[in-house]
This record gives sequence, C-alpha cells and structure tokens, in this order.
Amino acid sequence: MNTAPITRPLSARRSGPLRGKAQVPGDKSISHRSLILGALAVGETRITGLLEAEDVLNTAQVMRQFGATVTRDGNGLWRASGMGVGGWSQPDANLDFGNSGTGSRLVMGAMATTPITAVFTGDASLRGRPMKRVLEPLEKFGATWDAHDGGLMPVTLHGTDRPICIDYNVKVASAQVKSALLLAALNAPGRTRITQASLTRDHTEKMLKAFGADISVEPLKSGEVIHVLGEVELKPCAVEVPRDPSSAAFPLVAALIVPGSEVSIPGVLLNTRRIGLIDTLKEMGADIVIENLRESGGEKIGDLVAKYSPLTGVEVPPERAPAMIDEYPILAIAAAFAEGCTTMRGLEELRVKESDRLSAIVNGLRENGVTVEESEDGMVVEGGDVPGGGRVTTHMDHRIAMSFLVMGLASEKPVSVDDVSMIATSFPEFENLMRALGADFVLVNA
Ligand code: S3P
Repeated sequence: MNTAPITRPLSARRSGPLRGKAQVPGDKSISHRSLILGALAVGETRITGLLEAEDVLNTAQVMRQFGATVTRDGNGLWRASGMGVGGWSQPDANLDFGNSGTGSRLVMGAMATTPITAVFTGDASLRGRPMKRVLEPLEKFGATWDAHDGGLMPVTLHGTDRPICIDYNVKVASAQVKSALLLAALNAPGRTRITQASLTRDHTEKMLKAFGADISVEPLKSGEVIHVLGEVELKPCAVEVPRDPSSAAFPLVAALIVPGSEVSIPGVLLNTRRIGLIDTLKEMGADIVIENLRESGGEKIGDLVAKYSPLTGVEVPPERAPAMIDEYPILAIAAAFAEGCTTMRGLEELRVKESDRLSAIVNGLRENGVTVEESEDGMVVEGGDVPGGGRVTTHMDHRIAMSFLVMGLASEKPVSVDDVSMIATSFPEFENLMRALGADFVLVNA
C-alpha cells in the first residue's frame, strides 16, 4: 500500500491588478487558546470567528480527548465546555497535533500539572521540531517526560499529581513556551513567576485575565515578568476571534507588488505585538491605510487598505522579530520586489518553525533568480526585477507555499510550489480568496 501523502503542486502567473475585499480567517493563536481555556473553564465558552483550519481542528479534537465538550454550531461558531483547572481526564489514544507547534506545546503546558499520561505526536514536520524548550521547564513543576532522540515527538508526558509553582526565566523568544508555562501554573499552588526578555505575543495573558485568572504583568527595562496564581477556577467567557494578521499578510503584500492593485482586508487583529510586518512595509514605502481602528474582545482590530506601491529596501531592526516572526517569508517576497537591499537579522527562531524557514526562503528566492545572502541568523535580499521561473520546495510549510505563490503574481515568469496541501493547516480559503482578487493560479503536474 502506498502511504505517501498526496502532494498538490500549484503555479502562480503574473496577474492583472488585484482588487476587492479579502475576508481572511480567524487568528490562529487566539483560536487555539480559546479552545484550550474553554476546556479548562467550568461551564460554556462561546467562540465566534474561530479559525476552522487543520491546526485548530486538531486542538479541538484533543480537547475532546481530555473530556471537554467541543461543538460546532455554524461557520466559525463554536462552544467549549470544560471540567475546570486540573479536571481533564486520561485520554485513551495518542494526541495527534498534525502540523501544529502551537497546539502541541500549549497543551503540554496545560496538562503537565494534572496527573495524566499522554503521548503527543504529529506529522513529519512537527516530529522534527524541538520540544525540550517546553519539556525542560515543565519538569520544574514536577512533570516528567520521555521523548524520541532526546526531545522530539513522539513525546510521552507524565503530568504530576503534586505540582509546585516556579520562578523561571524563558531564554528563548517564544510565546509558545511562555504560554505553556502560564497554563501549567494554573494548577500549581502558589504564585508562578515567568520572566522573558522579549515581548512576544500576549494573547494567553489577555485571555487568562478575561477568564478570571489572577495574572499580572510587570514591565522590566528589557522584557517583563508575569505573575500567575495557581488553583484558581477559570470562568467561561465569550471569545470573539479577530482575523489573523499573519494570513492577511499574503493578500496585503500581493496588493503592494502587483501594479494597479487595491485590496481591503477588514477586521484584522492589530495587537502591537503582531504588527511588525505592517510597520516594516510602511518603512519600505507601502501605501497601507488602517481604517476604523476599534476594540473587539479585548484586542485592537482595524480594516486595512493596501495599494500597489514601489518599495525600497530597509534594515529591519532585529528586536522587531517577535512582532513579525511568522511574516518573514512574505516580507522576503516584498523585499525581492523592492529597490535596493533589505537586511533581516535576529532570525534564529526561523530555523525551527514548520521548516527551517530561513533556508527555505533563501533557496526559494535563489531558485527564482533573486540574489540573497544567508547568515546563521538572517539574510540580505537584493531587490529589483524578479525573474521567477523556479519551482520551490515547501518542506511541508504553509507559509513558504503561500509566500512564493504571491511572488509568482508579479514575477516575469511563473513561480510554482511543490505542494499546497499544507496551506489547509492555517488558511484553507487562501487559493479561492486570492483567485477572487484576480490571482492567476494554475494547477501543474506533480
Ligand atoms: C505562536 C507563537 C510563535 C509563532 C506561532 C504561533 C503562538 O511561535 O511562530 O505561529 O500562538 O504562541 P514561537 O512561540 O515558537 O515563537
């Protein structure tokens, strides 16, 4: 029997002006968290705008495996009913997170201080990603674990029946690690203290507050300390999931590089720790207007309008990396069309994403005739005319696939990618949404 996954290559051709409204799906980070916190609260959490993509659907399924009731009522409308902090039950099968680092790491934290043993696994990409960054600090709460090859999935995590609170400094600039520890702290008696030098996305902190947790954030000269009290009951909450800025990034950059385009993207999450790409593109000369800035569900949101703009290369400040960590693939595409060089540094975390994104971007750019210099933690892209004509290896990485398809909309020759099936992990509507704006995508032979 042939069990090889089915791949679906696609090609993008130079397109006429892109025009219209791009209704991108719900934010992935907030969607995962809404299901996990819903499953930890006693009573019913109602969620609107949930991202219905593979990564989040896997988290929903895992919450059911722990005994929560998770139901879909309609498009993006979900309900989750939990059993309270420490109330999850022993799952009777392995937990399969598919492609999702966020789902798996957050759930490791949420389970580690409850006496449950579970096996965490995922697809080939996730099985290659480092888990020790979460597992080692979880040991301090009292959890134990076994992992393949010292820290890879499948991971068997033994949650502890005698958790203790911790004081821990998260060295890696990762919201997933920080969030895993905050979730573990919920069932550890006493006050846990988590310090982080980088200001990574703060959705867990905001949402925990909304669910009634006792959590406070103390700013430091560099970074912050988060205090969270354990053994506090979470109360269900209504969660409105705003649209994902990391998905909005694709139609946004497409509009900037395809001559004559004008695209609007309503209701996008504009949390200050997620908008590094917008700031950078504006510095490059992008015509992006934010309209209707408002608040929804405790988060800033707004409508974006992007018009074709001649771009100029810039030096991206390395300290901005956490605020745009998922956007470097598409920024590199914008940089390829900009006049002059764009320098990006401080990107060591890109090497441990769904693929080694730094090398996947560099190889994809070179394959399409763009000059780029790679270093251990960054790249310098020489922009100008983009020849295209290459076939890009996506390494099971949704953002690499979407980024290079956007490149093909404005390059001289078409750009093809070897597989678009992984796009369903975060943005299932991508192909249709882009086609509706005027993108010329054509199926190619495997
Ligand atoms: C995420 C955090 C980031 C990001 C990921 C989502 C989250 O990962 O890349 O797509 O929801 O917390 P790291 O925490 O590894 O930086």
